[in-house]
Amino acid sequence: MRPVASPQRGPSRRDFHKTTLLAATAGGWFSLPQSDLGAAPAVNDRLTAAVIGCGGMATIHAQHQLEPHFHIAAICDVDQTRAEAYRAVAPDAEVVGPDYRDVLERDEIDVVFVTTPDHWHAKITVDALRAGKDVYCEKPLTFSVDEGRVIESTLAATDRILQVGTQQRSDPNFQTAVALARSGRLGAVRKVTVAIGGGPAGGPFASRPVPSGLDWNRWLGQATMTEYIPERCHGNFRWWYEYSGGKLTDWGAHHVDIAMWALGTAAKGKVRIEVVRSEHPVPLRNGQPTQADRYNTATSFDIRCRMQGGAELIIRDSAPDLGFENGILIECEGGRYFVNRGKLTGKPIEDLSQQDLSQALTSDLRGGRPVMSHTRHFYECVHRRQQPISDAASHVRHLNLCHLANIGQRLGRDVHWDPESRSVIDDPEANRWLRREQRHGFEVV
Ligand SMILES: NC(=O)c1ccc[n+]([C@@H]2O[C@H](COP(=O)([O-])OP(=O)(O)OC[C@H]3O[C@@H](n4cnc5c(N)ncnc54)[C@H](O)[C@@H]3O)[C@@H](O)[C@H]2O)c1
Repeated sequence: MRPVASPQRGPSRRDFHKTTLLAATAGGWFSLPQSDLGAAPAVNDRLTAAVIGCGGMATIHAQHQLEPHFHIAAICDVDQTRAEAYRAVAPDAEVVGPDYRDVLERDEIDVVFVTTPDHWHAKITVDALRAGKDVYCEKPLTFSVDEGRVIESTLAATDRILQVGTQQRSDPNFQTAVALARSGRLGAVRKVTVAIGGGPAGGPFASRPVPSGLDWNRWLGQATMTEYIPERCHGNFRWWYEYSGGKLTDWGAHHVDIAMWALGTAAKGKVRIEVVRSEHPVPLRNGQPTQADRYNTATSFDIRCRMQGGAELIIRDSAPDLGFENGILIECEGGRYFVNRGKLTGKPIEDLSQQDLSQALTSDLRGGRPVMSHTRHFYECVHRRQQPISDAASHVRHLNLCHLANIGQRLGRDVHWDPESRSVIDDPEANRWLRREQRHGFEVV
């Protein structure tokens, strides 16, 4: 297949893309122009926020997105050095913890931003919802299929607002790509191919003494107690199955989510997840890494998800034969087009009218609201008591495919998924993998 050509753009389309590019290019990803953000709220309309997990993503939030809609009053990290350093971007905030439950006890906190590593997301989110807080939780919301059930039942019981940090859903390029697929103008969606990068190989890494200020036991949470290796911890946790799902959940949470959103009803029903190719940087035995001192998540993969209705979703580390290394190629009966951060190309995009590009096509996806940043959208939803564009139920449904792809890769076989019963058909061992072993005291229940 040929790479998808860039379309020629007319003036109105250029305006449209100018806005999008500002929002989507590296470094400017979160910075939608002020005209899209609307007027800043009066100070007493601001929400009082706590940030739990003061690392890289939390810093981006504080620098680019939270002001002026949120006042960060409390911050918490199991690494005291990181909590103190975060005051550079949240100077008014009080350092609380290292136990995040101390934050949840504070009545003045309206909303909680959960920006910890993945294996903590569900536990802190569930506890925060039960404590009466609205939550913005970074992607991926869950660490296993089972955690999705707990979050959904908690949300139903608490009536709180929960937004997932899949900000691509608030980006006009991705919204246009999804709305066009779902509009039916190009006929049925036949196939969506996503490329999300492969994880790195790395190691052997040496064990070290736990740095002062870091509560390693608390950082590990539900994961098995193990010696401290710096590369297991800050930033690099995503390359270890003990704390993450590698690229499948790190970037799959973004691109597989958009692909499934675009597929819409074409993705309904049972799915056969076929592992065409998969490589790990360490040998696996019974799905478990056999070496403890190296990254262990998949470095390359080609996963084919066959939907009951005939549509296909292909998840790859890279798609050089299709002309891209990161992004989403959507193929419909009547044409195909490509989208990633900062790019939306292909003949069907060129053919869109000015009316389409003036937000009309995408308005329904946003519940009739104008384009705005993902965190501003969360702010609006908290005030209006509406579930947001990155709602928990659809995120969990889409992310489950990423978890299942990992289960298939780790067990070395295809899995046949029934989303209704949330079970793998005729595979008791794979069904045991829907839940993770959780250390006593850190269970997500
Ligand atoms: N939306 C996006 O595009 C995007 C981009 C980057 C990261 N993320 C997500 O943000 C999350 C954090 O990623 P990062 O790169 O900032 O990681 P990081 O390692 O830099 O930061 C995580 C912080 O959480 C702290 N922490 C761990 N357990 C904790 C606990 N129980 N209570 C309080 N603090 C705890 C760690 O000590 C660390 O300081 C990840 O889940 C990642 O997927 C999202």
